[in-house]
Amino acid sequence: MYAHLGKILLTEQEIMNKVVGLGQTISRDYKNKELLVVGILKGAIIFMSDLVRNITIPVEFDFMAVSSYGTSSRSSGVVRILKDLEQNIKDRHVLLVEDIVDTGLTLKYLLENLQTREPASLKTCTLLDKPERRLVKVNVDYNGFAIPDEFVVGYGLDYDQKFRNLRDILMLSPEVYEK
Ligand code: IMP
Repeated sequence: MYAHLGKILLTEQEIMNKVVGLGQTISRDYKNKELLVVGILKGAIIFMSDLVRNITIPVEFDFMAVSSYGTSSRSSGVVRILKDLEQNIKDRHVLLVEDIVDTGLTLKYLLENLQTREPASLKTCTLLDKPERRLVKVNVDYNGFAIPDEFVVGYGLDYDQKFRNLRDILMLSPEVYEK
């Protein structure tokens, strides 16, 4: 199963250190506010579960699922909501949690969509950012790591729905996704 994996880009320990720091910053920034953390399924679940346990103010969770990658590694630019929020976010402080910003198309769509629901505030937190691949401008308020233009898996990130359970973040050999 792991034959196509390349080198480790980020170790479990490096990720944890970063997540602890993000949790502290977010706790400070939202002090005395009620925060609704919205995770984007499925990629963000591992990151979100570690992040919220490092946030020291009360939080609530909700989730959305959108279509992005199927079996290929390149974004189609077509974003479809597969699962919407269960809560009304009007007048709520919403923090959108994503695994990675690549072209930015998914995040841009989500931000525009959620903004129409009139939250009190809407911010974004991503673990990874690939700035070289950006096609549209999106604002990321909290980011863990800027990474090079490499396809990565692990810690929630998949290729063809696999590898999400790896504890580190690893590069995938290009021959796998360029076929
Ligand atoms: P964007 O719309 O191009 O910014 O793509 C965002 C989504 O693409 C992320 O939420 C991931 O699901 C997926 N994605 C982008 N780059 C990678 C990668 O290197 N590994 C795994 N998934 C990725």
